[in-house]
Amino acid sequence: MSNHLDFLLKQNRLWSQSIKDRDNEFFRNLATQQTPKYFWIGCADSRVPANEILGLLPGEVFVHRNVANVVVHTDLNCLSVLQYAVDVLCVQHILVVGHYGCGGVKAAFHNIRLGLIDNWLRHVQDVRDKHRNRLMALADPNQQLDRLCELNVLEQVLNLSETTIMHDAWARGQNVTLHGLIYGLEDGILHDLKMPVSTDNELLSYYDAAVNRLFALAE
Ligand code: CO
Repeated sequence: MSNHLDFLLKQNRLWSQSIKDRDNEFFRNLATQQTPKYFWIGCADSRVPANEILGLLPGEVFVHRNVANVVVHTDLNCLSVLQYAVDVLCVQHILVVGHYGCGGVKAAFHNIRLGLIDNWLRHVQDVRDKHRNRLMALADPNQQLDRLCELNVLEQVLNLSETTIMHDAWARGQNVTLHGLIYGLEDGILHDLKMPVSTDNELLSYYDAAVNRLFALAE
């Protein structure tokens, strides 16, 4: 382990120096404040790191990650990060980012038993069951999984938009927009699922339109 830790600490020194080579004051300036415009809610998967994918430096994106990028109304961890992001940091864009090939979504889809986490992934199974007829009508199992990865993102955007935190922010006229995105592990590209939400009006019609768009090509 100490070899691994030595390696990590050495990597860290090199990284810190590479940033200071470009801007010697970078860390000193950042230490006094953070003013990120973006809040990323993504999967814990090691292949989906927020800053690297967006090409953003420390200080530019506030991040919450969990298995399968789920927003649950009783999850005080996620809600606390959300509240801080919206009320204190006043982020302008909240990105719910799923990814194709998500192990959590796959386990949920196939009822694979992994342990305690099955209870967490039950939320993704609820999404599967909500759209069961349309998912099952797809011939290709890979298509079914890809669509569920996308549907899971849209569902979490919906869940976010129904939190007291978002209701209160929009009621006081705060400019903050939710977006659903999906990331391709195979090409490193982010795709917009086109469900921007900046008010709680007409929410379900936006959701239905975004869901229909996902299935439009496949059906
Ligand atoms: Co994942």
